[in-house]
Amino acid sequence: MAPFTFALAFLLATVPICVHADISVIVGSWSSGSMNVQTGSGFANPAQTSFTYPNTSGISYSFSSQDSTTEGDPWYEIARYRFTSNGSQPNCITAVMNWVHGTYAQADNGSIILTPNGDGYQQIQDPCAAVSNFIENYNDTELLANGYYTFTDPTLGLALQLYAFDGSPLAPMYQVSSTPNMLPTQQLRNVTVATQVIQRRGNGVQSSRRILANWTLVPTAAVVVLVLAVGSSLL
Ligand SMILES: *[C@@H]1O[C@H](CO)[C@@H](O)[C@H](O)[C@H]1NC(C)=O
Ligand SMILES: *[C@@H]1O[C@H](CO)[C@@H](O)[C@H](O)[C@H]1NC(C)=O
Ligand SMILES: *[C@@H]1O[C@H](CO)[C@@H](O)[C@H](O)[C@H]1NC(C)=O
Ligand SMILES: *[C@@H]1O[C@H](CO)[C@@H](O)[C@H](O)[C@H]1NC(C)=O
Ligand SMILES: *[C@@H]1O[C@H](CO)[C@@H](O)[C@H](O)[C@H]1NC(C)=O
Repeated sequence: MAPFTFALAFLLATVPICVHADISVIVGSWSSGSMNVQTGSGFANPAQTSFTYPNTSGISYSFSSQDSTTEGDPWYEIARYRFTSNGSQPNCITAVMNWVHGTYAQADNGSIILTPNGDGYQQIQDPCAAVSNFIENYNDTELLANGYYTFTDPTLGLALQLYAFDGSPLAPMYQVSSTPNMLPTQQLRNVTVATQVIQRRGNGVQSSRRILANWTLVPTAAVVVLVLAVGSSLL
């Protein structure tokens, strides 16, 4: 019995289980992995709807503290640079650069609700898609479920564990700064145009263009090219 009790005590002492800690522990800036992805001025430039690409992928979250002098909820900012692959097409790696900010609040069950401010955006690069590179608005409300906790990593220092809406853990993030490095907590971009297409697969056009018309023109053009190609091969 004694070894078991000792093991249990050891487990409780080393494994952080205080998932409903005081929400103020999340205040600051946090970044995963090699910490190249960070919120603030080095990642997104909302006035230009553009990004500075970090050297490696990762996620970064910042949270401001509740300011007792002003009304309203405190702010969050997220910077994400992620790659995803598709099992059925393993050679098609999709890269997503995502930036969003807004206000956060804690629900009764301990989850944190992130309400976007409306000026977020993301760039998606999918070499296998018909539109291989485009920028779109991003304004999803997100839920950080299951609470959160901080712990001390022996080499990387103070770390924050958050969970996605479905309870799956996000990559642990390490403290960049105990005060949040964020872009100004206000509307930073007028959101009017739906999608900015930078490049379409195959045509080699790099110039920016704004798409306001509908997309049926693109497959029609592709079909015409195909018909011409087949037609000429029959000659
Ligand atoms: C990427 O790494 C290079 C070389 O270390 C460095 O000069 C550059 O500033 C880095 N870029 C970013 C966006 O951090
Ligand atoms: C994977 O690729 C297939 C074929 O293009 C597509 O139907 C499917 O939606 C993709 N899955 C994901 C998760 O992107
Ligand atoms: C963004 O989402 C929030 C929360 O759902 C909503 O209140 C707001 O109107 C949205 N803004 C835009 C520009 O869609
Ligand atoms: C917790 O509360 C939020 C807000 O009411 C809700 O959306 C969510 O489904 C609840 N459950 C979990 C596991 O977060
Ligand atoms: C949005 O548009 C208005 C009117 O043109 C302008 O005054 C304001 O500065 C713009 N805001 C941003 C964040 O670009």
